[in-house]
Amino acid sequence: MLNSSIRYAGGRLVCDGVALADIAAQVGTPVYVYSTMRMLSNLRRIQAAFPNAHIHYSAKANANLSILRTLINAGAGIDAVSAGEIHRALLAGVNPADVVFAGVGKTGQELFYALSQGVGWFNVENVEELRLLNSMVGTAISSVRVALRLNPDITANTHRHIATGHGKAKFGLNADTIRSILTHQDDYPNLRFNGIHIHIGSQLHDASATQAAIRAVLELIDPFPEITTINIGGGLPVPYSADEVVPTIEAFAAAILPLLEGYDIILEPGRSIIADAGLLLARVQYVKDQGGAKFAILDAGMTDLIRPALYEAHHEIVPLVEKGGAPEVVQVVGPVCETTDVLGRDVSVPRLEAGDSLALLTAGAYGMVMASNYNARPRPPEVLVSADGNAWSVIRRRESWDDLVAAELG
Ligand code: LLP
Repeated sequence: MLNSSIRYAGGRLVCDGVALADIAAQVGTPVYVYSTMRMLSNLRRIQAAFPNAHIHYSAKANANLSILRTLINAGAGIDAVSAGEIHRALLAGVNPADVVFAGVGKTGQELFYALSQGVGWFNVENVEELRLLNSMVGTAISSVRVALRLNPDITANTHRHIATGHGKAKFGLNADTIRSILTHQDDYPNLRFNGIHIHIGSQLHDASATQAAIRAVLELIDPFPEITTINIGGGLPVPYSADEVVPTIEAFAAAILPLLEGYDIILEPGRSIIADAGLLLARVQYVKDQGGAKFAILDAGMTDLIRPALYEAHHEIVPLVEKGGAPEVVQVVGPVCETTDVLGRDVSVPRLEAGDSLALLTAGAYGMVMASNYNARPRPPEVLVSADGNAWSVIRRRESWDDLVAAELG
């Protein structure tokens, strides 16, 4: 969706002060482009709406070092879900104490790395992991802070593929298990149980499931005053189209903050910071009429942006140069040998021709991080438009054919 940074100016689509056609011409397509201004204003909005909370940007949404560095410099901590993400965050300059380490299947090696780096919080969601972690805390570190992740058995209002809080999901620990762990804390002398973590899903369409989950947390921790922190995870939604109604950040905060009074709060937002700060530029390779439909075949596909194929997600598709004329309905597809390689179904756009450039909007989160080399396609480059909106730089180059085979032996 268009916004204050990504908009038309004088008939040309811009990212702040930069014409996107210039980037497409100089860097080629496909290419991801991000607005520093927009991501920082999103972060500031979250900081203002949750004034006393610790904001840990969820690196899984977009883990480019320049993006991480920008957000870390603006005061964000990091939510990491693998040793690789911790490594990235450290390279980007995060203070290890400002990292929360989450994940349903952390390996011993990952736990060791996180411990040796001095990561601030371990979000734990497995009893065996708890035992392993306790046994690994050596003499050099006196104890580590743990937040147990509750599975509140609540189904959030979002796509079934990104709901994580229902009882049959692999995520979290049920309330009885957590109660038993907290009652037998002496079994884990090297761990400090100071927090409870929840994350019931992403792109939450209302705050009611989160409210219910927080109430479940409050009931659970009532007998355990050592639990002073509640980590409510991510999930703040963004609209992907004008008719997608989602609560604003401020409305979400107003719905849940009164419940959390007296507690330290951690938030792990990903999408709400970076999704609408980014887009994917692509070019129409060919058009063809077939089976009663018109196809526009792009140079970008599901290998670059998998969300439509994986979640039936909608990304608005708009031309880089505003065109007149009656719109037509087009199936916007990629070049990958898969029937699901569709980037936009029944897209209404002014007449398209080969060579036209398009932008797939709201693609800053879960775009590049989920890109793959399927069909031996090099992953696209990433460009960051500067905070003043007037300059831009390539923050990740386009992969080469050599990159595609670089890890192979023999
Ligand atoms: N914290 C935890 C424990 C998470 O699992 C996630 C996302 C977040 C925070 C950040 O959530 P956010 O603020 O971005 O909603 N690939 C999917 C989204 C998967 C989200 C996974 N977990 C998509 O493209 O929609």
